[in-house]
Amino acid sequence: MVDLSVKVGSVELKNPIMPASGCFSVDLAQVMDVNRLGALVAKTVSREYRIGNPPPRVAELECGMINSIGLPTKGIGYFLEHQVPEYAQFTPPLVGSISATTADDFEAMTREVASHKDVDVIEVNISCPTRNPGGGNFAMHEDHTFNVVKRIRSATNKPVWVKLSPNAGDVVAIGVAAEEAGANALVVSNTILGLKINLDTFRPAIGNKFGGISGPGVKPIIVRMVHQVSQRVKIPVIGCGGIVKVEDVVEYMLAGASAVMIGYLIFRNPSGIVAMIDELAEWCDKRGFKRVAQLTGAMVNDPIAETFSAAAAPIGQGHKTFVPAE
Ligand SMILES: Cc1cc2nc3c(=O)[nH]c(=O)nc-3n(C[C@H](O)[C@H](O)[C@H](O)COP(=O)(O)O)c2cc1C
Repeated sequence: MVDLSVKVGSVELKNPIMPASGCFSVDLAQVMDVNRLGALVAKTVSREYRIGNPPPRVAELECGMINSIGLPTKGIGYFLEHQVPEYAQFTPPLVGSISATTADDFEAMTREVASHKDVDVIEVNISCPTRNPGGGNFAMHEDHTFNVVKRIRSATNKPVWVKLSPNAGDVVAIGVAAEEAGANALVVSNTILGLKINLDTFRPAIGNKFGGISGPGVKPIIVRMVHQVSQRVKIPVIGCGGIVKVEDVVEYMLAGASAVMIGYLIFRNPSGIVAMIDELAEWCDKRGFKRVAQLTGAMVNDPIAETFSAAAAPIGQGHKTFVPAE
């Protein structure tokens, strides 16, 4: 029996697989056993009711999808009174995701959401790519990230997971700033800002013009970021971007992730994320890994070969199947 449990700081998950914020709702209990998931992650909530962005809000891409939903929400009051109790019917830890446009409001919302007994973790969405495509998201700048996370940190002792933006120039510096300000874990990452044009209308395919790209095409980019960030911070990193199969989960963990979140796949095949839990156990079992946590950061990080010795290396060298140490 493979031990699938992982720890994200002080938070114990029975397996590393969680839905990503905005891609999951308790209604999915009709098609999957929600209690099998590592944790439940709620849709981002902001203080006031928000109607969201004009349609079309999503469009298909060869590499996944592009969306600009615009964080529609019934507001924090509704979330705490109605949605948290719905989530609390299930056993996995509940991650509440919050967003605000000022540090004052981020701090106040953290205090309010964290004080609910059924919210176990606060995920802070400081990275929604279309909130302000001009770059106003906190996660675009190290100093903004540091300042807002410091305020959030001061508002609760519960774990705070900071969701980073792949659109920042130097995501490692932003991750370090979040850690220094007291984040307990980093979620790498939100969607990549993009543009799709409708060739019938010559207009953007998305009502809000730009949208966030998610799905398989973003995976290698985000795996690279997970690796770079996890090499520089001591806090756990959660990988999020383009996971559609068990091998993607493994790849994220080898790159340095302690756990993963899955969005796009839920729109294609919701129950796939539960199937992946069993597949992960099988994958580990077949290769002799007794604990899935052994995979975290296990990528063989050889020094990069000099061009000369790389050219001289025998073909196929380094392609032997990796065997875990006992
Ligand atoms: C339709 C849609 C809605 C989303 N809503 C949110 C949200 O409310 N809050 C958030 O932090 N991320 C949101 N995201 C981003 C996802 O949580 C995730 O970071 C991103 O989609 C990358 O993962 P994926 O490639 O597995 O989809 C949303 C993504 C999609 C596709």
